[in-house]
Amino acid sequence: MLQGKNIILGITGSIAAYKAAFLTRLLKREGAQIKIILTPYGKEFITPVTLATLSGNTVLTDFFHHDDGAWNSHVDLGIWADIMLIAPATANTIAKMAGGIADNLLLTTYLSAKCPVVVAPAMDLDMFRHPATLKNLETLKSFGNLIIEPTTGELASGLEGKGRMEEPEKIVAWLEDYFKKKSRFNGKRVLITAGPTYEKIDPVRFIGNHSSGKMGYALAKTFADEGACVDLVSGPVNLNFTHKNVTIHPVVSAGEMDQQASALFPSADIVVFAAAVADYRPVRQENSKIKRTGENLTITLTPNTDIAAKLGGQRKCGQILIGFALESDNALANASKKLAAKNLDFIVLNQLNDPGSGFDVDTNRIIIIGKDNNQKKFELKSKQDVATDIADEIYNLMTHG
Ligand code: CTP
Repeated sequence: MLQGKNIILGITGSIAAYKAAFLTRLLKREGAQIKIILTPYGKEFITPVTLATLSGNTVLTDFFHHDDGAWNSHVDLGIWADIMLIAPATANTIAKMAGGIADNLLLTTYLSAKCPVVVAPAMDLDMFRHPATLKNLETLKSFGNLIIEPTTGELASGLEGKGRMEEPEKIVAWLEDYFKKKSRFNGKRVLITAGPTYEKIDPVRFIGNHSSGKMGYALAKTFADEGACVDLVSGPVNLNFTHKNVTIHPVVSAGEMDQQASALFPSADIVVFAAAVADYRPVRQENSKIKRTGENLTITLTPNTDIAAKLGGQRKCGQILIGFALESDNALANASKKLAAKNLDFIVLNQLNDPGSGFDVDTNRIIIIGKDNNQKKFELKSKQDVATDIADEIYNLMTHG
């Protein structure tokens, strides 16, 4: 999986820098091209000569060459790389990355990198569990950087605890897995409905719901990151999201969502119905504002098309269809009924009374219910991580049926 991959390996001033020599060798053996950036303190722990010999490339340590003034372009490095791996990453470098400090070539390259960045921390247990370090790692995650968690064991200080950099073989396996995942939906077209729908009452009022669209957008990002071409049919949401592999089709009402999703459905390989579609709309949609009269007001509602059920009835051989069920009572039974009624491959259940799940939060706890009614329960996770779990499940269906 690493054949032909361009990897920047950043090495910082940790005793674990000696492992970077093994790591370089293994990466090279797997067919990767490696350019190494060594921080000034990194040089105290491992020599550029060792690393240049193992990587087959000059090791970069400074912004420019002192003898002839040639510039090491951090911008070009950031563009060249398929991935930037910082291993070992000290607490100091992690803190500087989180704070946007740019006082060495590794940090300027990090700030310019267009590629994914992976960090393998290495430090003493007290440094690792210090709130400052934990907060900095959370900040890096919020930037989209990936963390290869350190392991627990004997540390250079002689203490035992969490802080040992992951072993080189495991880091290489992690990278292989990462690249495999990145391309697992290559060539697939994914259709996702997301967000709420608004059903017009009059020019200023509508019937809507509290859906934020976050789950559907997280799914769109996951599939797009992993190589799919995504059509995201989205109700009105307040999310800033663009991705080169995602086409957003904005809609307002359930009728518009139905029309757009139905047009895209025949070319989709995978369809995820993540929208909170209004089940009813007003029979009359007034063109003038309804005036207050002091009397009761009755608005008659008529059912909207159940988009998932309609398209579930039209599914072609090989298409994979997934739905969501947000339930307050008899959750499992209701979700199972929807799975069958809408002809889905599996349904993702989340429960309204479950703290941390549901609308307008960044987390979700799901149960995936399959056709044979088997249930898979997941921990409370960020919606982005939940999206990965759902994509994993879909990938399993694609590959094992
Ligand atoms: N759904 C849809 N079109 C609708 C209603 C629902 O495509 N008009 C989809 C949702 O996107 C979701 C699944 O159907 O994937 C279940 O939606 P949910 O609102 O939980 O269920 P309903 O079928 O609307 O049933 P109820 O509201 O009675 O629970």
